[in-house]
Amino acid sequence: MYRAMKKTKPKRRPTAILFLFTLFFVVMQISCTQQIPTNVQDMNFIPQPVSVDTTEGAFVLGGKAMVFVQEGQEGLVKIGQFLATKLNKSTGFQIEVKETSKVPRKGNIYLTLGNDPAIVGDEGYQIDVTNKLLTLKATKPEGLFRGVQTIRQLFPDNGNTRQEAYAIKAATINDAPSYTYRGMMLDVSRHFFGVEDVKKVIDHLAYYKFNHLHLHLSDDQGWRIEIKSWPNLTAHGGSTQVGGGEGGYYTQEQYKELVAYAASRFITIVPEIDMPGHTNAALASYPELNCDGKAPELYTGTEVGFSSLCIDKEITYEFVDDVLTELVEITPGPYIHIGGDESHSTKKEDFIYFIEKVQDMVFSKGKTMIGWDEVAHAELHPKSIAQYWSKDENAKLAIKKGAKVIVSPGKYAYLDMKYDSTTVLGLNWAGYIEVDHGYSWSPDQLTEGIAKENILGIEAPLWSETVTNMDEIEYLVFPRLLGYAEIGWTPAPQRNWEDYKVRLGKFAPQLKAAGIDYYPSALVPWVE
Ligand code: ACM
Repeated sequence: MYRAMKKTKPKRRPTAILFLFTLFFVVMQISCTQQIPTNVQDMNFIPQPVSVDTTEGAFVLGGKAMVFVQEGQEGLVKIGQFLATKLNKSTGFQIEVKETSKVPRKGNIYLTLGNDPAIVGDEGYQIDVTNKLLTLKATKPEGLFRGVQTIRQLFPDNGNTRQEAYAIKAATINDAPSYTYRGMMLDVSRHFFGVEDVKKVIDHLAYYKFNHLHLHLSDDQGWRIEIKSWPNLTAHGGSTQVGGGEGGYYTQEQYKELVAYAASRFITIVPEIDMPGHTNAALASYPELNCDGKAPELYTGTEVGFSSLCIDKEITYEFVDDVLTELVEITPGPYIHIGGDESHSTKKEDFIYFIEKVQDMVFSKGKTMIGWDEVAHAELHPKSIAQYWSKDENAKLAIKKGAKVIVSPGKYAYLDMKYDSTTVLGLNWAGYIEVDHGYSWSPDQLTEGIAKENILGIEAPLWSETVTNMDEIEYLVFPRLLGYAEIGWTPAPQRNWEDYKVRLGKFAPQLKAAGIDYYPSALVPWVE
Protein backbone atom coordinates (compact mmCIF):
# COMPACT_ATOMS: atom_id res chain seq x y z
CA MET A 1 0.00 0.00 0.00
CA TYR A 2 2.64 2.43 1.05
CA ARG A 3 4.82 1.54 -1.87
CA ALA A 4 1.93 1.89 -4.27
CA MET A 5 1.11 5.36 -3.01
CA LYS A 6 4.65 6.49 -3.32
CA LYS A 7 4.83 5.22 -6.84
CA THR A 8 1.66 7.08 -7.89
CA LYS A 9 2.89 10.44 -6.56
CA PRO A 10 3.01 12.71 -9.64
CA LYS A 11 6.38 14.00 -10.77
CA ARG A 12 6.94 17.77 -10.68
CA ARG A 13 7.20 19.04 -14.22
CA PRO A 14 9.78 21.69 -15.24
CA THR A 15 7.02 24.23 -16.07
CA ALA A 16 5.62 23.95 -12.53
CA ILE A 17 9.06 24.57 -11.04
CA LEU A 18 9.53 27.56 -13.31
CA PHE A 19 6.14 28.88 -12.22
CA LEU A 20 7.02 28.53 -8.52
CA PHE A 21 10.34 30.32 -9.04
CA THR A 22 8.64 33.11 -10.93
CA LEU A 23 6.00 33.47 -8.22
CA PHE A 24 8.70 33.60 -5.54
CA PHE A 25 10.58 36.37 -7.34
CA VAL A 26 7.43 38.37 -8.00
CA VAL A 27 6.44 38.18 -4.34
CA MET A 28 9.96 39.18 -3.30
CA GLN A 29 9.88 42.08 -5.71
CA ILE A 30 6.56 43.34 -4.38
CA SER A 31 7.62 43.03 -0.77
CA CYS A 32 10.86 44.93 -1.44
CA THR A 33 9.63 47.82 -3.52
CA GLN A 34 6.01 48.04 -2.55
CA GLN A 35 6.23 48.05 1.19
CA ILE A 36 3.28 49.76 2.85
CA PRO A 37 4.23 53.43 2.60
CA THR A 38 4.42 55.34 5.84
CA ASN A 39 1.87 58.10 6.14
CA VAL A 40 3.68 61.39 6.66
CA GLN A 41 0.83 62.54 8.89
CA ASP A 42 1.67 59.69 11.26
CA MET A 43 5.33 60.59 11.29
CA ASN A 44 6.95 62.19 14.17
CA PHE A 45 8.13 65.78 13.96
CA ILE A 46 9.43 68.20 16.56
CA PRO A 47 8.78 71.03 16.05
CA GLN A 48 5.46 70.08 14.45
CA PRO A 49 5.16 71.67 10.98
CA VAL A 50 2.38 74.13 10.29
CA SER A 51 0.63 71.80 7.85
CA VAL A 52 1.06 68.24 6.60
CA ASP A 53 -1.38 67.02 3.92
CA THR A 54 -1.22 63.57 2.38
CA THR A 55 -2.31 62.75 -1.14
CA GLU A 56 -2.37 59.75 -3.48
CA GLY A 57 0.83 57.95 -4.32
CA ALA A 58 4.08 57.09 -2.61
CA PHE A 59 7.73 58.03 -2.85
CA VAL A 60 10.45 55.43 -2.46
CA LEU A 61 13.90 56.42 -1.28
CA GLY A 62 16.21 53.62 -2.33
CA GLY A 63 19.90 52.88 -2.28
CA LYS A 64 20.46 54.61 -5.64
CA ALA A 65 18.92 57.92 -4.57
CA MET A 66 20.84 61.16 -4.90
CA VAL A 67 20.38 64.65 -3.56
CA PHE A 68 20.14 67.07 -6.48
CA VAL A 69 20.45 70.78 -5.85
CA GLN A 70 19.55 73.59 -8.16
CA GLU A 71 22.57 74.60 -10.20
CA GLY A 72 24.29 77.94 -9.74
CA GLN A 73 22.76 78.85 -6.38
CA GLU A 74 25.27 79.77 -3.73
CA GLY A 75 25.39 77.51 -0.73
CA LEU A 76 23.06 74.82 -2.00
CA VAL A 77 25.71 72.17 -2.55
CA LYS A 78 26.77 72.56 1.10
CA ILE A 79 23.18 72.22 2.31
CA GLY A 80 22.74 69.17 0.08
CA GLN A 81 25.93 67.65 1.47
CA PHE A 82 24.77 68.28 5.01
CA LEU A 83 21.54 66.41 4.23
CA ALA A 84 23.29 63.57 2.40
CA THR A 85 25.74 63.04 5.27
CA LYS A 86 22.90 62.78 7.76
CA LEU A 87 20.80 60.51 5.54
CA ASN A 88 23.75 58.24 4.83
CA LYS A 89 24.17 57.76 8.54
CA SER A 90 20.48 57.08 9.19
CA THR A 91 19.77 54.93 6.12
CA GLY A 92 23.08 53.23 5.44
CA PHE A 93 22.92 54.45 1.82
CA GLN A 94 25.69 56.28 -0.02
CA ILE A 95 23.72 59.22 -1.28
CA GLU A 96 25.75 61.71 -3.31
CA VAL A 97 25.05 65.34 -4.14
CA LYS A 98 24.90 66.80 -7.64
CA GLU A 99 23.97 70.16 -9.08
CA THR A 100 21.33 70.12 -11.78
CA SER A 101 19.69 72.57 -14.14
CA LYS A 102 16.69 70.27 -14.73
CA VAL A 103 14.13 68.57 -12.54
CA PRO A 104 15.81 65.27 -11.61
CA ARG A 105 14.64 61.77 -12.45
CA LYS A 106 12.38 59.63 -10.27
CA GLY A 107 13.48 58.45 -6.83
CA ASN A 108 15.65 61.42 -5.91
CA ILE A 109 15.64 64.34 -3.51
CA TYR A 110 15.65 67.81 -5.05
CA LEU A 111 16.54 71.05 -3.27
CA THR A 112 15.52 74.19 -5.09
CA LEU A 113 15.04 77.90 -4.49
CA GLY A 114 12.09 79.80 -5.84
CA ASN A 115 9.37 82.24 -5.03
CA ASP A 116 6.07 80.69 -4.15
CA PRO A 117 3.24 82.45 -2.34
CA ALA A 118 2.86 79.38 -0.11
CA ILE A 119 6.38 79.81 1.27
CA VAL A 120 6.49 82.32 4.12
CA GLY A 121 9.60 84.31 5.05
CA ASP A 122 13.29 83.48 4.91
CA GLU A 123 12.93 80.33 7.00
CA GLY A 124 9.73 79.05 5.43
CA TYR A 125 9.84 76.00 3.18
CA GLN A 126 7.68 73.51 1.36
CA ILE A 127 8.26 69.78 1.00
CA ASP A 128 6.43 68.05 -1.81
CA VAL A 129 6.51 64.27 -1.75
CA THR A 130 5.22 62.66 -4.95
CA ASN A 131 5.52 59.30 -6.74
CA LYS A 132 8.45 60.82 -8.50
CA LEU A 133 10.43 63.07 -6.21
CA LEU A 134 10.92 64.50 -2.77
CA THR A 135 11.23 68.21 -3.50
CA LEU A 136 12.24 70.79 -0.90
CA LYS A 137 11.66 74.36 -1.93
CA ALA A 138 12.33 77.66 -0.15
CA THR A 139 12.94 81.29 -0.98
CA LYS A 140 16.28 81.39 0.86
CA PRO A 141 19.01 78.85 1.67
CA GLU A 142 18.03 79.34 5.31
CA GLY A 143 14.57 77.99 4.56
CA LEU A 144 16.08 75.01 2.76
CA PHE A 145 18.23 74.29 5.79
CA ARG A 146 15.20 74.30 8.11
CA GLY A 147 13.38 72.01 5.67
CA VAL A 148 16.40 69.69 5.59
CA GLN A 149 15.81 69.04 9.31
CA THR A 150 12.26 67.95 8.50
CA ILE A 151 13.58 65.56 5.84
CA ARG A 152 15.99 64.16 8.45
CA GLN A 153 12.98 63.50 10.67
CA LEU A 154 11.30 61.65 7.78
CA PHE A 155 14.26 59.24 7.76
CA PRO A 156 15.41 59.46 11.36
CA ASP A 157 18.65 58.16 12.76
CA ASN A 158 17.47 55.56 15.25
CA GLY A 159 20.82 53.83 15.34
CA ASN A 160 19.67 50.89 13.17
CA THR A 161 20.41 51.55 9.52
CA ARG A 162 18.02 49.40 7.47
CA GLN A 163 19.89 49.70 4.18
CA GLU A 164 16.63 49.02 2.37
CA ALA A 165 14.18 51.26 0.57
CA TYR A 166 11.94 53.62 2.52
CA ALA A 167 8.45 54.24 1.15
CA ILE A 168 6.45 57.24 2.28
CA LYS A 169 3.02 58.37 1.18
CA ALA A 170 2.79 61.38 -1.07
CA ALA A 171 2.34 64.54 0.95
CA THR A 172 2.86 68.28 1.09
CA ILE A 173 4.38 69.98 4.10
CA ASN A 174 4.08 73.76 4.36
CA ASP A 175 6.04 75.26 7.18
CA ALA A 176 7.41 78.48 8.65
CA PRO A 177 8.29 79.60 12.18
CA SER A 178 5.99 81.43 14.57
CA TYR A 179 8.82 83.53 16.03
CA THR A 180 11.83 84.93 14.21
CA TYR A 181 14.24 84.47 17.15
CA ARG A 182 14.57 80.97 18.59
CA GLY A 183 17.57 80.52 20.79
CA MET A 184 19.39 78.84 23.60
CA MET A 185 21.93 80.41 25.92
CA LEU A 186 25.00 78.57 27.15
CA ASP A 187 26.84 80.00 30.16
CA VAL A 188 30.51 79.24 29.46
CA SER A 189 31.68 81.44 32.32
CA ARG A 190 30.60 79.58 35.47
CA HIS A 191 32.04 76.47 33.89
CA PHE A 192 33.98 76.63 30.68
CA PHE A 193 33.09 74.41 27.72
CA GLY A 194 35.51 74.01 24.83
CA VAL A 195 35.01 74.44 21.11
CA GLU A 196 33.99 70.81 20.47
CA ASP A 197 31.31 70.92 23.18
CA VAL A 198 29.88 74.14 21.80
CA LYS A 199 29.79 72.64 18.30
CA LYS A 200 27.83 69.71 19.68
CA VAL A 201 25.33 72.13 21.23
CA ILE A 202 25.08 73.92 17.86
CA ASP A 203 24.31 70.58 16.15
CA HIS A 204 21.56 69.85 18.66
CA LEU A 205 20.08 73.30 18.07
CA ALA A 206 20.20 72.94 14.29
CA TYR A 207 18.18 69.72 14.33
CA TYR A 208 15.29 71.41 16.13
CA LYS A 209 15.39 74.51 13.89
CA PHE A 210 16.83 76.98 16.41
CA ASN A 211 18.54 79.97 14.86
CA HIS A 212 20.47 81.65 17.71
CA LEU A 213 23.05 80.55 20.25
CA HIS A 214 23.69 83.12 22.96
CA LEU A 215 27.08 82.64 24.62
CA HIS A 216 27.42 84.13 28.11
CA LEU A 217 31.11 84.92 27.75
CA SER A 218 31.91 86.74 30.97
CA ASP A 219 30.83 86.68 34.58
CA ASP A 220 32.29 86.88 38.07
CA GLN A 221 33.86 83.43 37.74
CA GLY A 222 35.56 83.73 34.37
CA TRP A 223 36.31 85.80 31.28
CA ARG A 224 36.11 83.52 28.24
CA ILE A 225 36.92 85.53 25.12
CA GLU A 226 40.36 86.74 24.11
CA ILE A 227 40.59 90.54 24.00
CA LYS A 228 43.98 91.35 22.53
CA SER A 229 44.18 94.88 23.95
CA TRP A 230 43.42 93.61 27.48
CA PRO A 231 45.24 90.26 27.60
CA ASN A 232 45.00 89.72 31.33
CA LEU A 233 41.23 89.27 31.03
CA THR A 234 41.81 85.74 29.81
CA ALA A 235 45.33 85.11 31.16
CA HIS A 236 44.14 85.76 34.71
CA GLY A 237 40.37 86.24 34.51
CA GLY A 238 39.89 83.08 32.44
CA SER A 239 42.07 80.88 34.63
CA THR A 240 39.43 79.41 36.90
CA GLN A 241 35.70 78.61 37.24
CA VAL A 242 33.08 77.61 39.79
CA GLY A 243 34.59 75.10 42.18
CA GLY A 244 38.16 76.19 41.36
CA GLY A 245 38.78 74.19 38.17
CA GLU A 246 41.13 75.51 35.53
CA GLY A 247 38.58 77.41 33.42
CA GLY A 248 39.61 78.36 29.92
CA TYR A 249 38.73 80.75 27.14
CA TYR A 250 38.26 81.00 23.39
CA THR A 251 40.95 82.63 21.32
CA GLN A 252 39.48 84.99 18.73
CA GLU A 253 40.35 82.36 16.10
CA GLN A 254 38.37 79.72 18.02
CA TYR A 255 35.45 82.08 18.46
CA LYS A 256 35.48 82.78 14.71
CA GLU A 257 35.51 79.02 14.13
CA LEU A 258 32.38 78.71 16.29
CA VAL A 259 30.71 81.60 14.49
CA ALA A 260 31.44 79.94 11.13
CA TYR A 261 30.30 76.51 12.32
CA ALA A 262 27.05 78.01 13.57
CA ALA A 263 26.61 80.03 10.37
CA SER A 264 26.94 76.86 8.28
CA ARG A 265 23.85 75.70 10.20
CA PHE A 266 22.13 79.08 9.81
CA ILE A 267 22.58 79.82 13.50
CA THR A 268 23.72 83.25 14.70
CA ILE A 269 25.99 83.52 17.72
CA VAL A 270 24.96 86.24 20.16
CA PRO A 271 27.95 87.14 22.35
CA GLU A 272 27.31 88.51 25.82
CA ILE A 273 29.69 90.53 27.95
CA ASP A 274 27.78 90.95 31.20
CA MET A 275 28.12 94.50 32.64
CA PRO A 276 28.31 96.47 34.90
CA GLY A 277 27.71 93.70 37.48
CA HIS A 278 28.89 90.11 37.10
CA THR A 279 32.36 91.51 36.41
CA ASN A 280 34.61 90.11 39.13
CA ALA A 281 36.81 88.25 36.62
CA ALA A 282 37.56 91.53 34.80
CA LEU A 283 38.01 93.47 38.05
CA ALA A 284 40.42 90.80 39.30
CA SER A 285 42.44 91.07 36.09
CA TYR A 286 42.90 94.87 36.05
CA PRO A 287 43.15 96.82 39.32
CA GLU A 288 42.54 100.11 37.48
CA LEU A 289 38.96 99.05 36.69
CA ASN A 290 38.14 99.12 40.42
CA CYS A 291 37.06 102.36 42.13
CA ASP A 292 39.67 101.77 44.86
CA GLY A 293 42.35 100.70 42.38
CA LYS A 294 42.69 97.30 44.05
CA ALA A 295 42.02 94.05 42.24
CA PRO A 296 39.84 91.55 44.10
CA GLU A 297 40.68 87.85 44.23
CA LEU A 298 39.35 85.56 41.53
CA TYR A 299 35.98 84.13 42.51
CA THR A 300 34.91 80.49 42.27
CA GLY A 301 31.66 80.55 44.28
CA THR A 302 28.11 80.98 43.04
CA GLU A 303 26.83 84.16 44.72
CA VAL A 304 25.60 86.98 42.48
CA GLY A 305 25.33 90.75 42.71
CA PHE A 306 28.55 91.70 44.51
CA SER A 307 30.66 93.15 41.69
CA SER A 308 30.46 96.31 39.60
CA LEU A 309 32.61 98.14 37.12
CA CYS A 310 33.54 101.62 38.41
CA ILE A 311 30.93 103.87 36.80
CA ASP A 312 32.80 107.16 37.43
CA LYS A 313 36.14 106.20 35.94
CA GLU A 314 37.00 107.17 32.38
CA ILE A 315 39.07 103.99 31.97
CA THR A 316 35.91 101.91 32.45
CA TYR A 317 34.58 103.24 29.15
CA GLU A 318 37.93 102.87 27.39
CA PHE A 319 37.86 99.26 28.54
CA VAL A 320 34.27 98.65 27.41
CA ASP A 321 34.93 100.36 24.09
CA ASP A 322 38.01 98.21 23.42
CA VAL A 323 36.17 95.02 24.35
CA LEU A 324 33.20 95.89 22.16
CA THR A 325 35.43 96.96 19.25
CA GLU A 326 37.24 93.63 19.23
CA LEU A 327 34.05 91.64 19.78
CA VAL A 328 32.21 93.42 16.98
CA GLU A 329 35.10 92.68 14.59
CA ILE A 330 34.65 88.93 15.04
CA THR A 331 30.85 88.94 15.30
CA PRO A 332 29.08 89.09 11.92
CA GLY A 333 25.65 88.68 13.55
CA PRO A 334 23.55 91.77 14.35
CA TYR A 335 23.46 91.49 18.16
CA ILE A 336 25.72 92.31 21.07
CA HIS A 337 24.34 91.38 24.50
CA ILE A 338 25.56 93.64 27.29
CA GLY A 339 24.03 91.75 30.23
CA GLY A 340 22.83 94.31 32.75
CA ASP A 341 21.24 91.79 35.13
CA GLU A 342 21.54 91.73 38.91
CA SER A 343 23.77 94.80 39.20
CA HIS A 344 22.98 94.93 42.91
CA SER A 345 26.25 96.71 43.73
CA THR A 346 25.68 99.54 41.26
CA LYS A 347 23.55 102.54 42.30
CA LYS A 348 20.41 102.81 40.18
CA GLU A 349 21.36 106.17 38.63
CA ASP A 350 24.84 104.83 37.90
CA PHE A 351 23.34 101.74 36.31
CA ILE A 352 21.14 103.83 34.03
CA TYR A 353 24.04 106.12 33.08
CA PHE A 354 26.22 103.12 32.29
CA ILE A 355 23.63 101.22 30.23
CA GLU A 356 22.77 104.29 28.13
CA LYS A 357 26.45 104.98 27.45
CA VAL A 358 27.23 101.38 26.51
CA GLN A 359 24.04 101.14 24.45
CA ASP A 360 25.29 104.09 22.38
CA MET A 361 28.64 102.37 21.89
CA VAL A 362 26.95 99.19 20.64
CA PHE A 363 24.78 101.05 18.12
CA SER A 364 27.66 103.30 17.04
CA LYS A 365 29.53 100.12 16.10
CA GLY A 366 26.62 99.05 13.90
CA LYS A 367 25.14 96.44 16.22
CA THR A 368 21.83 96.02 18.00
CA MET A 369 21.92 95.91 21.79
CA ILE A 370 20.31 93.17 23.81
CA GLY A 371 20.19 93.40 27.61
CA TRP A 372 18.51 91.45 30.41
CA ASP A 373 15.16 92.96 31.41
CA GLU A 374 16.67 95.37 34.00
CA VAL A 375 17.99 97.51 31.12
CA ALA A 376 14.40 98.72 30.70
CA HIS A 377 15.14 101.27 33.46
CA ALA A 378 17.44 103.11 31.05
CA GLU A 379 16.24 105.10 28.05
CA LEU A 380 16.21 102.57 25.27
CA HIS A 381 17.21 102.98 21.66
CA PRO A 382 14.17 102.13 19.47
CA LYS A 383 15.90 98.99 18.22
CA SER A 384 17.19 97.73 21.59
CA ILE A 385 15.94 94.39 22.80
CA ALA A 386 15.17 93.42 26.38
CA GLN A 387 15.46 89.80 27.44
CA TYR A 388 12.63 89.07 29.84
CA TRP A 389 13.85 86.65 32.53
CA SER A 390 12.52 87.84 35.88
CA LYS A 391 10.14 90.78 36.04
CA ASP A 392 6.99 91.32 33.98
CA GLU A 393 7.10 95.01 34.79
CA ASN A 394 10.59 95.36 33.33
CA ALA A 395 9.51 93.66 30.12
CA LYS A 396 6.42 95.87 29.91
CA LEU A 397 8.49 98.97 30.61
CA ALA A 398 10.84 98.02 27.77
CA ILE A 399 7.87 97.51 25.45
CA LYS A 400 6.48 100.91 26.51
CA LYS A 401 9.83 102.38 25.50
CA GLY A 402 9.48 100.80 22.07
CA ALA A 403 11.73 97.77 22.53
CA LYS A 404 11.00 94.22 21.53
CA VAL A 405 11.52 91.41 23.98
CA ILE A 406 13.09 88.00 23.88
CA VAL A 407 11.11 85.83 26.25
CA SER A 408 13.09 83.67 28.70
CA PRO A 409 10.98 83.50 31.86
CA GLY A 410 12.98 81.76 34.59
CA LYS A 411 10.00 79.75 35.82
CA TYR A 412 9.28 78.24 32.38
CA ALA A 413 12.35 78.51 30.17
CA TYR A 414 15.46 78.19 32.37
CA LEU A 415 17.20 74.98 31.39
CA ASP A 416 19.17 75.03 34.63
CA MET A 417 16.08 74.65 36.82
CA LYS A 418 15.73 71.16 38.29
CA TYR A 419 13.00 68.92 36.88
CA ASP A 420 11.75 68.09 40.37
CA SER A 421 12.98 67.88 43.95
CA THR A 422 14.98 64.73 43.22
CA THR A 423 17.03 66.20 40.33
CA VAL A 424 20.67 66.29 41.39
CA LEU A 425 21.91 68.87 38.86
CA GLY A 426 20.52 72.36 38.49
CA LEU A 427 19.02 75.02 40.74
CA ASN A 428 15.46 75.71 41.88
CA TRP A 429 15.20 79.41 42.71
CA ALA A 430 12.60 79.85 39.92
CA GLY A 431 10.86 76.56 40.76
CA TYR A 432 10.97 73.09 39.26
CA ILE A 433 10.43 72.73 35.53
CA GLU A 434 9.04 69.30 34.67
CA VAL A 435 8.82 68.55 30.96
CA ASP A 436 5.07 69.35 30.79
CA HIS A 437 5.51 72.63 32.67
CA GLY A 438 8.36 73.66 30.35
CA TYR A 439 6.15 72.94 27.32
CA SER A 440 2.72 74.19 28.35
CA TRP A 441 3.00 77.96 27.96
CA SER A 442 3.10 80.55 25.22
CA PRO A 443 5.32 83.63 25.04
CA ASP A 444 2.36 85.89 24.22
CA GLN A 445 0.12 84.52 26.99
CA LEU A 446 2.48 85.06 29.94
CA THR A 447 1.02 88.36 31.03
CA GLU A 448 -1.19 91.08 29.65
CA GLY A 449 0.87 93.70 27.86
CA ILE A 450 3.37 91.35 26.24
CA ALA A 451 1.69 90.53 22.93
CA LYS A 452 2.98 88.61 19.95
CA GLU A 453 3.95 91.79 18.09
CA ASN A 454 6.17 92.83 21.03
CA ILE A 455 8.05 89.55 21.02
CA LEU A 456 11.09 88.85 18.89
CA GLY A 457 11.18 85.28 20.09
CA ILE A 458 12.06 82.78 22.77
CA GLU A 459 15.33 81.75 24.35
CA ALA A 460 16.07 78.96 26.82
CA PRO A 461 19.14 79.80 28.94
CA LEU A 462 21.40 77.20 30.53
CA TRP A 463 23.37 78.70 33.42
CA SER A 464 26.27 76.48 34.33
CA GLU A 465 26.87 76.80 38.07
CA THR A 466 26.10 73.08 38.50
CA VAL A 467 27.05 71.58 35.15
CA THR A 468 30.64 70.69 34.36
CA ASN A 469 30.58 68.54 31.21
CA MET A 470 28.58 67.64 28.11
CA ASP A 471 26.70 64.77 29.76
CA GLU A 472 25.47 67.10 32.47
CA ILE A 473 24.55 69.76 29.92
CA GLU A 474 22.55 67.19 27.96
CA TYR A 475 20.71 65.93 31.02
CA LEU A 476 19.30 69.39 31.75
CA VAL A 477 18.82 70.35 28.12
CA PHE A 478 17.08 67.15 27.00
CA PRO A 479 14.25 66.72 26.58
CA ARG A 480 13.15 70.25 27.48
CA LEU A 481 14.95 71.83 24.52
CA LEU A 482 12.57 70.09 22.09
CA GLY A 483 9.64 71.75 23.83
CA TYR A 484 11.20 75.21 23.54
CA ALA A 485 11.89 74.50 19.87
CA GLU A 486 8.21 73.78 19.33
CA ILE A 487 7.05 76.81 21.33
CA GLY A 488 9.21 79.02 19.12
CA TRP A 489 8.26 77.37 15.84
CA THR A 490 4.77 75.86 15.90
CA PRO A 491 1.69 78.11 16.08
CA ALA A 492 0.26 78.08 19.62
CA PRO A 493 -3.22 76.80 18.62
CA GLN A 494 -1.57 73.69 17.15
CA ARG A 495 0.29 72.80 20.31
CA ASN A 496 -0.94 70.68 23.18
CA TRP A 497 0.85 68.59 25.76
CA GLU A 498 -1.18 65.39 25.23
CA ASP A 499 -0.17 65.25 21.57
CA TYR A 500 3.35 66.52 22.16
CA LYS A 501 4.24 64.00 24.86
CA VAL A 502 3.49 61.11 22.47
CA ARG A 503 5.68 62.63 19.76
CA LEU A 504 8.41 63.32 22.30
CA GLY A 505 8.27 59.73 23.52
CA LYS A 506 8.87 58.55 19.96
CA PHE A 507 12.10 60.57 19.87
CA ALA A 508 13.68 58.24 22.47
CA PRO A 509 15.44 55.99 19.89
CA GLN A 510 16.90 59.06 18.16
CA LEU A 511 18.05 60.63 21.39
CA LYS A 512 19.64 57.35 22.43
CA ALA A 513 21.26 56.86 19.02
CA ALA A 514 22.77 60.34 19.40
CA GLY A 515 24.22 59.26 22.75
CA ILE A 516 22.14 61.78 24.66
CA ASP A 517 21.61 61.00 28.31
CA TYR A 518 18.24 62.69 28.66
CA TYR A 519 16.00 63.02 31.71
CA PRO A 520 13.50 60.14 31.36
CA SER A 521 10.46 62.00 32.69
CA ALA A 522 7.74 59.67 33.95
CA LEU A 523 5.18 61.94 32.25
CA VAL A 524 6.36 60.93 28.78
CA PRO A 525 5.46 57.59 27.12
CA TRP A 526 9.01 56.84 25.98
CA VAL A 527 9.28 54.35 23.15
CA GLU A 528 11.77 51.53 23.82
C1 ACM B 1 19.85 86.04 35.05
O1 ACM B 1 19.36 84.90 35.21
N1 ACM B 1 20.58 86.59 35.99
C2 ACM B 1 19.63 86.77 33.82
